[in-house]
Amino acid sequence: MKPAHLLLFAFLTFACKEKPKAQASIEKPKSEKAAVIADSAMVVSARAEASKIGADILKMGGNAFDAMIATQMALALTYPNAGNLGGGGFMVYRSQYGEIGSLDFREKAPLAATRDMYLDQEGNVIAEKSTDGALAVGVPGSIAGIFAVHEKFGTLPMEILLKPVIDLANNGYVITAKQKARFEEFKEEFEKTNDESSIFTEIYKQGDTLKNIALANTLSRIAKNGRSEFYAGDTGKKMIDFLKKKGAIITQEDLDAYEAIWREPIVFKYKDVKLISMAPPSSGGVCLAQILKMVEPYPVSEYGHNSTKYIQLLVEAEKRAYADRSEYLGDPDFVDIPVDSLLSENYLLKRMENFSLEKATPSEEIKPGKIGGAESMETTHFSIVDKFGNAVSVTTTLNASYGSKLYISDLGFFLNNEMDDFSAKPGVPNMFGLIGGEANAIAPQKRMLSSMTPTIVEKDGKLLMVLGTPGGSTIITSVLQTFLNVHKFNMNMQQAVDAPRFHHQWLPDVILFEEEGFSNETIYNLEAKGYSSSTEILPQIGYIDAILVLPNGKLEGGADRRGDDTAIGY
Ligand code: GLY
Repeated sequence: MKPAHLLLFAFLTFACKEKPKAQASIEKPKSEKAAVIADSAMVVSARAEASKIGADILKMGGNAFDAMIATQMALALTYPNAGNLGGGGFMVYRSQYGEIGSLDFREKAPLAATRDMYLDQEGNVIAEKSTDGALAVGVPGSIAGIFAVHEKFGTLPMEILLKPVIDLANNGYVITAKQKARFEEFKEEFEKTNDESSIFTEIYKQGDTLKNIALANTLSRIAKNGRSEFYAGDTGKKMIDFLKKKGAIITQEDLDAYEAIWREPIVFKYKDVKLISMAPPSSGGVCLAQILKMVEPYPVSEYGHNSTKYIQLLVEAEKRAYADRSEYLGDPDFVDIPVDSLLSENYLLKRMENFSLEKATPSEEIKPGKIGGAESMETTHFSIVDKFGNAVSVTTTLNASYGSKLYISDLGFFLNNEMDDFSAKPGVPNMFGLIGGEANAIAPQKRMLSSMTPTIVEKDGKLLMVLGTPGGSTIITSVLQTFLNVHKFNMNMQQAVDAPRFHHQWLPDVILFEEEGFSNETIYNLEAKGYSSSTEILPQIGYIDAILVLPNGKLEGGADRRGDDTAIGY
């Protein structure tokens, strides 16, 4: 689901009290795309144009890191609800030599941010202050991210990497049916937030061509002048002037202080494979590891795909992991995170001690675990493998759809509303319904906790899978299910991506099912065991873009049927 995400918390709260509506019994995804197979290299992203630009860079001899830069900027142009210059993200990589690592280019709280900046005098959260307009904006990290990648791994000049994006911005990209609907949906908000018309307040038809000349010019200056153009040059100055006029607290000092950070990824084993995923300040890797480790001792395949037992097992593990997330996870540069304890086998076995297939454990009985001694869902993911064997898994975001909706028409890009990913007040849910506490409280220069889960899977020392998705709080559980669909249920990559998904995040205590794909029988069986559920809140969950390396070395793409996602390889 996309725009409705902003109302997720309200919906979730409502859903806990409502009986689920019966849905038609549908066993399989409605439209199953054929898996795309490539001999050597592949890009899978949310837009055909972005996948093509990335794949063309690979064809001209660039590596996966070069293609990452071009694809990310192509998404900023063609998928502006989530692709961005004004937001941030994470990249997990595995090189052709098996070296692994990750880059954190997450946004940061401005220097002038304060812990209670979204509270009124009575200490209550002021609705929409952390999601709408200038105070919602975190210091953007995407351009620092692509330059950090370029410096460490790039092989082609930045001018070459950005040229196809600049050309497409000048010549225009084609508006898809889904995109047209989305523009229409947000038109009023764009007008209200920006107080002026722009290319995004026009009315478009499907098939129209949209040019973004301002973005072409911004990218041309960045290609010529480098990273400093965005953080210290004309672009940075214009951005700060714009933000100041809109009442933001971000200053030039914030841009000067921004750095992307190379971090150790979270690495763990599940059965016969090794997973490499994003470490804090994303909760993705830790939660994914916790859930898979809790699930590992159970006969998952025997239960059957999306069976009542399977859903119960995953949901109960998810509840326990999200409870821990609320207590322990935040920016590791500000809080000590007991990662080893959270991932220890004994701890996770203990967490599941009271799991029963007979009845649900209510979320109110599940507290964050005791450690011995110690969003919009509007994000976008792309996966790339090059002919050398390098793999990158990249998730970037503006947080909500089009972030804060603030659009700098002079520069051609939207600004994030990532500040809402902080916990504005302990125990008060953010726009994804996620609860947080001290570990994710606002502080100057701190990174807000994320759920982004760019992930790479290795088997027998070789690359096996690259995957990730948007989806706010549902990112972790979508990656989990897609991985299990391949590993436990032998689906091909496209089937695994297309299969219906469900989600639980501890609070509120409700299982969210995609609108299509779960039978009445399954839902009523779960209700009988004490689970609340809804099939209406998230009509669709996530947009997974993934690549599987087949036993013969070819690449199999999974581009989510739910969006305009496209796999292109050669
Ligand atoms: N903004 C969504 C996330 O980072 O999880």
